[in-house]
Amino acid sequence: MTLDELAACPPPAHPSPPVQLDDGAMDIPAFGLGGWIFGDTYWNQPEHKDMVRTIHAALRNGVRHFDTASIYGNGRSEQLLGQQLRKIRNQVCIATKLMPAPLPVFRRRLKLSFQRLMTDYIDILYLHWPKLEVDYAPIIEHLESERKQGRIRAIGLSNFPPEEVKRCLSSGRIDVAQDGYNLLWRIPERDTAFYREHKIRRFAYSPLAQGILTDEAVGAFETAAGTGVGGAGAAGAAGTGGAAGADTGGAAGAAAADADGTRAADAAGAGVAGAGGTGGAGAGDGVAATNAGGAGAGAPETAAGTPGTAATANAGIPPRFHDGRKGLVFFREGTLDYTRQAVQDLHKTAGEFGSSLEKAALHFCIRPEGFDGLVTGARNRSQVEAVMQALTCGPPPELIRRIDEISREYHGRLPAGTNNMFGHSRRKGR
Ligand SMILES: NC(=O)c1ccc[n+]([C@@H]2O[C@H](COP(=O)([O-])OP(=O)(O)OC[C@H]3O[C@@H](n4cnc5c(N)ncnc54)[C@H](OP(=O)(O)O)[C@@H]3O)[C@@H](O)[C@H]2O)c1
Repeated sequence: MTLDELAACPPPAHPSPPVQLDDGAMDIPAFGLGGWIFGDTYWNQPEHKDMVRTIHAALRNGVRHFDTASIYGNGRSEQLLGQQLRKIRNQVCIATKLMPAPLPVFRRRLKLSFQRLMTDYIDILYLHWPKLEVDYAPIIEHLESERKQGRIRAIGLSNFPPEEVKRCLSSGRIDVAQDGYNLLWRIPERDTAFYREHKIRRFAYSPLAQGILTDEAVGAFETAAGTGVGGAGAAGAAGTGGAAGADTGGAAGAAAADADGTRAADAAGAGVAGAGGTGGAGAGDGVAATNAGGAGAGAPETAAGTPGTAATANAGIPPRFHDGRKGLVFFREGTLDYTRQAVQDLHKTAGEFGSSLEKAALHFCIRPEGFDGLVTGARNRSQVEAVMQALTCGPPPELIRRIDEISREYHGRLPAGTNNMFGHSRRKGR
């Protein structure tokens, strides 16, 4: 199929209408495909041809919203999406993210994003993470001026707590917010009233908790717990797809944290990191990659006061998560057992209603009291097809009620004071 034919594929019937911005200026497709995995060493990397196939399968299945960020793969994700979507640009919504920075730096990075995305307008431009030492006013004013010129259609904030959102609101209109949200991570619910009051639409990222909330993960947890394969798998992961661990672990990871905003964009030069490089800064999604820790290195955040440490030597963490994900709070020592149990319980409950765990997890995020839309990730064609299939019709309300209960109980067991699922402190202003 040509790209035009792919783009002509109708969206599947699903229960969530497009997300309409408050001023009525724009409709955003409620489901987006995330581009973090495209070239970023936080994730065990799929082959290039599989990334292209994933994007084409998404189009074939009606996905019209693609999410990326300048730091994903040091610009590689933006570049890939730019290449694949350029011919059907006006039929898709493209969202990207930039770290806040002093205006001249920010403008330079924005220009690079336009170049890599091969477009003269960006549908949603998010500030990726708060950065306390940066004055947001000139950035937001600049984005407003870009909006007036039709170069940016919506302004978004990602991972911003309400007090930081307010700092931005005094300089311009904020249309959308993107935050991590799923059955295992419900902290963003505390800001629901704030976002509704300010008519800011919300998109959930990592609705599958980066792959933990899937039927496949249930078996993987059982195997890892039963055979101790988790520990052995760590060595395997480092040897094969373990670039994330190598690039971001320990002290090297701490350097990469600052690189997420600075080095990644500045080093981009012509706009794109070297195609073959799996090394490099590999900053991953914001500071998240930093938290991955090398194999058995523990989480750097622990020293900074964030509760919990990475589970010892990855024991019990399924090998499929032995990339940057092993630093997630769900895998921390003292939490891992609860995570395994919760995933099993959620899976069993979903099964009683004839649903897969991923279907239940996705629909949980967009239930009426949840978020307006979501951005999922997929490493291959079959995953994106399964996700879009899961979204075609919602599970019964009774299932949502039951998994809500399990999820609440689990959530109450997460260490107090954890700000985000990566376990780092966003207050550090990275
Ligand atoms: N703003 C931010 O700070 C931020 C942070 C995180 C993410 N995001 C955005 O949100 C997007 C989505 O995040 P995410 O990748 O964490 O989302 P996710 O949907 O929670 O996780 C995606 C992972 O789930 C697994 N998966 C997906 N479909 C599956 C299926 N049908 N069966 C089994 N496993 C399946 C795969 O794991 P395996 O790889 O193990 O197969 C896949 O890589 C990112 O790409 C990015 O665009 C933004």
